Amino acid sequence: MTKDNKTIENELVSKLDTVNIANHLNIMNNCEANDAKGAVEMAACISNSPAVPASPSPFYGKAQEYWSQVPATVNGMLGGLGFISAVDIQGSNIFLRELKLAGNKLALDCGAGIGRVSRNLLIPRFDKVDLVEQDTAFAAKAREYCTIGCVHPNRLGEIYNVGLQEFQPPSDKKYDLIWSQWVLGHLTDEDLLAFFQRMRMSLASNAYLVMKENVTSTKNVMKDEEDSSVTRPLQLYERLLTQAGFRIVRKVKQQNFPKELFPVYMIACKPIAPK
Ligand SMILES: C[S@@+](CC[C@H](N)C(=O)[O-])C[C@H]1O[C@@H](n2cnc3c(N)ncnc32)[C@H](O)[C@@H]1O
Repeated sequence: MTKDNKTIENELVSKLDTVNIANHLNIMNNCEANDAKGAVEMAACISNSPAVPASPSPFYGKAQEYWSQVPATVNGMLGGLGFISAVDIQGSNIFLRELKLAGNKLALDCGAGIGRVSRNLLIPRFDKVDLVEQDTAFAAKAREYCTIGCVHPNRLGEIYNVGLQEFQPPSDKKYDLIWSQWVLGHLTDEDLLAFFQRMRMSLASNAYLVMKENVTSTKNVMKDEEDSSVTRPLQLYERLLTQAGFRIVRKVKQQNFPKELFPVYMIACKPIAPK
């Protein structure tokens, strides 16, 4: 981390509880322009269009290829913005504290990367934490990162090295929290809906699914060709969650990220009907 970045990080962390500013995660100019027509085309492109067939598909293959070139470091996980990690974890901690979780036995970290969220947010709170990560090198790094030098070296559970579009939790596992962060843009709408539905069935009673994702400031979906992902508007995530049988319990915008980034929202939800 450079001295400049460290300074910025300290400023961001100290401002977190006091200042309300607009925040963003992916750098906008990596993405295509978001005029209305283009957005409709992009939305079609990620849901039902033959351009993105059911997996395995170029949409997932390109993302896999992209992530295989990224270093297995915190900086790599955050697109070169490793210095925002502390602010991110602080915001997530506040969010979870206010949720008042019912259980603390087992959590699941979806799209876990090297286990940044597991190590810093989930492992301190849960007896066991499982991870899902599609990249083999990140999954291997996570095993090290979530044990060696970790305050609770025995809390790492299973690491499932598979894409979320294919991931099915074992039927005997019920999670007290399912956390997914900065990964859902890698799923097509159709696969995301099915993923939400499967996760709903794997929650313990009174447990939450939380998603923390970039959202567009408009009503448009924006596609990033470089990492083969999309950034969705908040309303689309809300609609998919509702369609999957969730009710939204809490929705908070992450504070104090650099202004150039997309807004980032944390949404906690619970199943609507008893399972
Ligand atoms: C931006 S990183 C975020 C990692 C972690 N959630 C964090 O916040 O530090 C995105 C991660 O999602 C993973 N990923 C991408 N597509 C995925 C998929 N279809 N299923 C599971 N993980 C995926 C990448 O390999 C990468 O580790």
